[in-house]
Amino acid sequence: MLENLTPQPPDKILQLMQAFREDPRENKIDLGVGVYRNAEGVTPVMRAVKEAERRVWESQETKAYTGLAGDPAYGEALSKLVLGPARDEARLAAAATPGGTGAIRQAFELIRSLSPDATVWLSAPTWPNHPSILRHLGMKMAQYRYFDEASRDVDFAGMTEDLSRVKAGDVVLLHGCCHNPTGANLTADQWKEIIALMMERGAVPMIDIAYQGFGDGLEEDALGTRLVCENMPEVLIAASCSKNFGIYRERTGLLMVQAQSSREKPLAQGMLNHLNRQNYSFPPDHGARIVSTILDDEALRGDWQAELEGMREGMLAIRQQLADELRQRTNSDRFDFLARHRGMFSRIGATPEQVAKMRESHGIYMVGDSRMNIAGLNAKTVPILAEAIVEAGV
Ligand code: LMR
Repeated sequence: MLENLTPQPPDKILQLMQAFREDPRENKIDLGVGVYRNAEGVTPVMRAVKEAERRVWESQETKAYTGLAGDPAYGEALSKLVLGPARDEARLAAAATPGGTGAIRQAFELIRSLSPDATVWLSAPTWPNHPSILRHLGMKMAQYRYFDEASRDVDFAGMTEDLSRVKAGDVVLLHGCCHNPTGANLTADQWKEIIALMMERGAVPMIDIAYQGFGDGLEEDALGTRLVCENMPEVLIAASCSKNFGIYRERTGLLMVQAQSSREKPLAQGMLNHLNRQNYSFPPDHGARIVSTILDDEALRGDWQAELEGMREGMLAIRQQLADELRQRTNSDRFDFLARHRGMFSRIGATPEQVAKMRESHGIYMVGDSRMNIAGLNAKTVPILAEAIVEAGV
């Protein structure tokens, strides 16, 4: 059997993480993997997370299994955070998953079981693991235009033109906020137009929301997801707590399924439980318990929100500083989009050669498509990056 092994295609984000670790230069700058770092370059354990962990450690009397869908308190607390007033308890099924990626994987498997001929439509570009998992599962996929390389905004005309070719029952995967890798996002009016188009075509929306609170704020970042839930009968939502709670390695995600009616809810819940059982039985619990401990306690929740808000504002300040530095150096407004974009990422618009040049001459690591993690910068490294961008001729 093992003689049939062949090397697996490398994941370009994880490959970059490795290359950065191996670079001996002291002043290297990591703008690769999407992990938040503070001004000191540290990915901190958030204060509320530390406190919640202490409380769990003190009060937890057993490590016996939870349910197949995870701790119900977690599902309730996180679905309320994501869906807010759009949450329709009577139609909502949910199951804890190992991270947001686990939720995406389970959602794709659900689609493959229930609708094997459906095509999953992905934004061009998207997070590379979306097509990679679909390929692994042998599922059909197609792309819709999303990013306009010239304006570095959403190519809305291209997007609507492509989505008007979606067939009934196809799935449209949308990023809830903070689009990865571009940083360009839909406005509320554009969300409404996309919803109308999906309704007209009979498409099923799937939302990947991994950066709630990193863009315009917790409520603002959930707006698109909530509009979809309020206006469409069936919705799949994959949520991640990795970034906004900073619990990357705890693998804390939630797959939510909004069914058409309350009649289908128990069936949807049964399917989510079944998928968990087939893949890994019970989902991890530690991260989920941290999240529900924080969300269910007013003081802890307030402290978590305050720290998250500080992180968000820090990223916005870096965006503005970088846009200003580049405006000054290039004498143009070509890079003003950096201040308009939201979330951890922006694509600066460099060619792979220019990206390689910045790595060689300055030890600056960004993904080959020139996606950079804004949270990998601080006030001191922004001018170094701005200089490198200009020097590389971007
Ligand atoms: C990223 O896009 O960098 C993150 O979502 C981390 C990952 O797993 O790729």
